[in-house]
Amino acid sequence: MRNILISILIVSLYSLSTIAQNSANIQLPSPQKEGGLPVMKALQNRKSSRTYVAGKDLTNQQISNLLWAAYGFNRDNKRTAPSATDSQEFTLYVFIKSGIYKWDDKKNSLLLLSSGDSRALAGKQDFVKDASLNIVYVADYNKLTKYNTEIEKSNMAHINCGYISQNVYIYCASAGLATIVRGWIDKDAIAKKLQLPAHQKVIVAQSVGYDK
Ligand SMILES: Cc1cc2nc3c(=O)[nH]c(=O)nc-3n(C[C@H](O)[C@H](O)[C@H](O)COP(=O)(O)O)c2cc1C
Repeated sequence: MRNILISILIVSLYSLSTIAQNSANIQLPSPQKEGGLPVMKALQNRKSSRTYVAGKDLTNQQISNLLWAAYGFNRDNKRTAPSATDSQEFTLYVFIKSGIYKWDDKKNSLLLLSSGDSRALAGKQDFVKDASLNIVYVADYNKLTKYNTEIEKSNMAHINCGYISQNVYIYCASAGLATIVRGWIDKDAIAKKLQLPAHQKVIVAQSVGYDK
């Protein structure tokens, strides 16, 4: 009886620690800024992929490298992607198997917003749920202070997002990963899930993973 109780206790403690691990924020390792294919070869390999190996996660190191390539700081307060009037209006949300996270770009950590697998919410195509990771690009229109109208803000946000997305394409081509940027998404459903205020807009999403 004593042994059974001890076993139950051990299993319970293990389960609790697993839940705690899964539901915690993730501190990413520093990005590796060397290695990969030369840029000309990466451009040669760049493409969109619509078939992904399900059940294969990216490592935290790969996620860190990917996010830095996308939109990390490469100089004091300046990034790998340009932005009109240096507005830097984007926040990257990361959908992985363990949950939805907001990337804290200064601390290079993933802040948990919602635990559980919501990858399917990141797009309307079947392969989206199989991609190891989906990024949702959100623009804060309040940071586009030099532009007066909604249409100007929207134009600039969409252009700026293109650079970030292309950085992801080039990183993936360089690192042997598959990717695709996607406009066919349910923006309202995503904004609701992320609890975005009206001035923060979902622009596009991008899947990353392993090509079948
Ligand atoms: C802004 C934008 C939105 C896109 N949206 C989707 C999408 O929702 N679904 C999809 O399957 N492909 C999408 N694509 C990928 C394009 O279809 C793809 O880039 C195009 O077919 C050329 O293929 P390539 O990227 O392999 O050169 C999108 C591309 C861009 C630039």
